[in-house]
Amino acid sequence: MTGPVIILRPGDSERLARLHVRAFANPWSRADFEALLETPSTLGLGIEENDSDLAAACLVQFAADTAEILTLATAPGQGRKGLASTLMECAIRRAGERGIARFLLDVAEGNDAARALYRRHGFVEDGRRRGYYGPGRDALLLSRTLPA
Ligand SMILES: CC(C)(COP(=O)(O)OP(=O)(O)OC[C@H]1O[C@@H](n2cnc3c(N)ncnc32)[C@H](O)[C@@H]1OP(=O)(O)O)[C@@H](O)C(=O)NCCC(=O)NCCS
Repeated sequence: MTGPVIILRPGDSERLARLHVRAFANPWSRADFEALLETPSTLGLGIEENDSDLAAACLVQFAADTAEILTLATAPGQGRKGLASTLMECAIRRAGERGIARFLLDVAEGNDAARALYRRHGFVEDGRRRGYYGPGRDALLLSRTLPA
């Protein structure tokens, strides 16, 4: 069982870092998350797996009329339950409330799961950063316009 969407605070940095270790080959550290969540322009959203672990989390940074998804992860074993979709829908709703016009993110070209997720949520490819994740590993730039 997982819980509802919660707002993440700097005190959640340790469990965010643990989730990142489970989800990514190059995870961010507790200090990385703490610095981001101490920034007022960053919104952290999470879904708890239990009292100490997160099942999924998403960090969004707002700048002027754009929002950027900094990171999004679901714990292995919790995939395909709609957790990432729930967080994305919450982030998009909150962005709309702030008058955000455009959502941005980047994704590794070879990350088929994430690309399928973003496609499903209306993101389209509008750029590429060659070698962003290492030699021959490009990042795709995706965006989605929000209704005015
Ligand atoms: C990508 C990721 C966030 C998806 O999380 P999730 O909670 O499983 O996603 P959802 O359950 O909301 O899936 C929604 C849709 O995304 C697509 N999707 C998700 N996982 C997929 C997979 N492994 N293969 C193909 N499509 C997938 C599907 O269209 C899915 O809908 P469906 O289950 O009805 O077919 C998760 O796999 C993850 O954390 N991966 C490692 C970290 C990462 O790559 N993060 C994104 C970096 S940009």
